[in-house]
Amino acid sequence: MSALRTIAEEDGAVVILDQTRLPKETAFVRLHTLADAAHAIRVMQVRGAPLIGATAAYGVALGLSEAQPLETILSTLAATRPTAVNLHWALDRMQRVLEKSALAGRQDVAWREARKIAQEDEAANAAIGQHGLAMLRPLATNKGRLNLMTHCNAGWLATVAHGTAISPMYAAHANGLDIHVWVSETRPRNQGLLTAWELAQAGVPHTLIADNAAGLLMMQGKVDCIIVGADRIAANGDTANKVGTYLKALAAQAHKVPFYVAAPVSTVDYACPDGSRIPIEERAADELGAGDVPVANPAFDVTPANLIAGIITEHGIVAPGELASIKP
Ligand code: MRU
Repeated sequence: MSALRTIAEEDGAVVILDQTRLPKETAFVRLHTLADAAHAIRVMQVRGAPLIGATAAYGVALGLSEAQPLETILSTLAATRPTAVNLHWALDRMQRVLEKSALAGRQDVAWREARKIAQEDEAANAAIGQHGLAMLRPLATNKGRLNLMTHCNAGWLATVAHGTAISPMYAAHANGLDIHVWVSETRPRNQGLLTAWELAQAGVPHTLIADNAAGLLMMQGKVDCIIVGADRIAANGDTANKVGTYLKALAAQAHKVPFYVAAPVSTVDYACPDGSRIPIEERAADELGAGDVPVANPAFDVTPANLIAGIITEHGIVAPGELASIKP
């Protein structure tokens, strides 16, 4: 499997990079069954909204190859993680396509559709990179180094390939823009370490910061633009992303730093009117490593649309209030 692609097919199995072992160790896991796929999503061996969607699609194909009933397959996968809407988007798409096809051919149809979902994600994220690059170019004019900031990991590890928020950064670096990325650590799961690992591999200058350092850096004028990913974008543009994103958006508004969200249209939940309806995943207390004290561990927060300068999609950059214009 290519080092820059997170999921691949191999002899009727699905091979993933085990993200729980990164960045210390590069290890691959073979998924053979529906249970393997559900486990991989639940324990975050795969993570990031677009990759969760692609893995769920392959999970459907694996389940059908084991002759499991379609309803069992869909409900098992739907219960793995609540916030990233790409999971439900992929399952709905698989269900629609499968229900239209004859029972005998469903396995082949499922593998084909999962492959298509993965290929489309790769293409969408490459396009996001180019649209984001067009936004970054003018910011870089008459400036030395362009200082960007991101939160969590929305690089190629969070998708099938290229990444969402990091895709414009890769494109900028590849096109000779002098960029540097502030990478927010992202407690408690430290997805920032994954972003730093990716950027180091690609030779993109970057610096890891504690989550709480972001406001100070903005106040000091050391941040020119922030780009984050998304797990679910409501129809009005309110955006759920890794917890801590909202605080960055508030600080960005205070310091007039443009704050962008990058995501494929598969992350837009047109059936969800606003951010108050987005389910927020509450994860286990032990992730905080605090021992025997009461703990709350919401894994996502919601950034209101009015704090977002634009949403970088595969169809171009749209204002949060204009998502209807790119509805599939
Ligand atoms: O809980 P995770 O690691 O699956 O979180 C999802 C994310 O990686 C991010 O919130 C990301 O910025 C959006 S997905 C490209």
